Amino acid sequence: MSENFTFNLLARDGAARRGEITMPRGTVRTPAFMPVGTAGTVKAMYLDQVRELGSDIILGNTYHLMLRPGAERMARLGGLHEFARWPHPILTDSGGFQVMSLADLRKITEKGVTFRSHVDGQVFEMSPERSIEIQGLLDSDIQMQLDECIALPAERSEIERAMELSLRWAERCKTAFGDQPGKAMFGIVQGGDDVKLRERSAQALKALDLKGYAVGGLAVGEPQDVMFEMLEATCPQLPEEKPRYLMGVGTPDDILGAVARGIDMFDCVMPTRAGRHGLAYTRHGKINLKNARHAEDPRPLDEESNCPASRDYSRAYLHHLVRSNEALGGMLLTWNNLAYYQSLMADIRSAIEQGRFTERAAEIRAAWARGDI
Ligand code: GUN
Repeated sequence: MSENFTFNLLARDGAARRGEITMPRGTVRTPAFMPVGTAGTVKAMYLDQVRELGSDIILGNTYHLMLRPGAERMARLGGLHEFARWPHPILTDSGGFQVMSLADLRKITEKGVTFRSHVDGQVFEMSPERSIEIQGLLDSDIQMQLDECIALPAERSEIERAMELSLRWAERCKTAFGDQPGKAMFGIVQGGDDVKLRERSAQALKALDLKGYAVGGLAVGEPQDVMFEMLEATCPQLPEEKPRYLMGVGTPDDILGAVARGIDMFDCVMPTRAGRHGLAYTRHGKINLKNARHAEDPRPLDEESNCPASRDYSRAYLHHLVRSNEALGGMLLTWNNLAYYQSLMADIRSAIEQGRFTERAAEIRAAWARGDI
């Protein structure tokens, strides 16, 4: 395994890319979907199962882990990989985004962000330097810069202020991260729904020569066509030879559209959160297991899947578990959903290799539209 962090482009099909990120803890096949393991657990799943589904990397959250169990404690326990028993790559988000959505009494200044913990009310200060320090204590393989992501719609002046602040924080994070050959620190493009601001952000980050680039501030209230337009403005500004990560996205349809525009990595709570709420993602589209029409349906979610949750349990049983609020309902549906997401990513990767991504994406969408009944 490589001592260094590297990205190799293996194939291209239009703007879609098939690649491989290699680092000491393993290789990530791209386009990749990273299951969200916010608090050191992919909710309702054993990490062995997550791995078996073809996940090369999972995501952890600085914000949650710094509050509980605490970054210094995590370091004393050997870091997040050891703690959670996941020896493979981990990417951590920097904390800013979660502070804005979860913490109380948030205040952003040039120095960083101050907030009150949603767990016990304690006040914390997080600078760009402290975010990188915490991500180091967690022993994260891919660390994210601290940024400010704002909800849309927003005033242009406000979008510009947050984007410029994020650029200054990117420089400070780069300095704080220093030279760590086997790890990476990614910058995050901001700029809301403004093409010019997106271009400026991407170009300024490119000049910092980081090991990878994320596109942030999307899927925050804007329609899908605006998100795609922002990707069309952003991706061509980013260096070809570096991985590109679209943060917090998305639905299977968002993923197909973003891969078509040059994105390599994704994370989203959708498959795990929806699973805990009774919703199944399948080749035939979404199935809401709460619905009474499944009460006597003996069919599995997908008889052709090799995931036991998708293949071996009747919809009637899943409906019963969900209606009865049984923990197993959320576990089986999360398992099914992550299996579907990872099979979609494998399908996307092989279609790009074969130079038929556009056709395959149309077939996948047609199967969702036909539905299963
Ligand atoms: N997760 C989803 N969107 C974002 C973003 O813009 N910034 C960060 N740090 N995390 C995110």
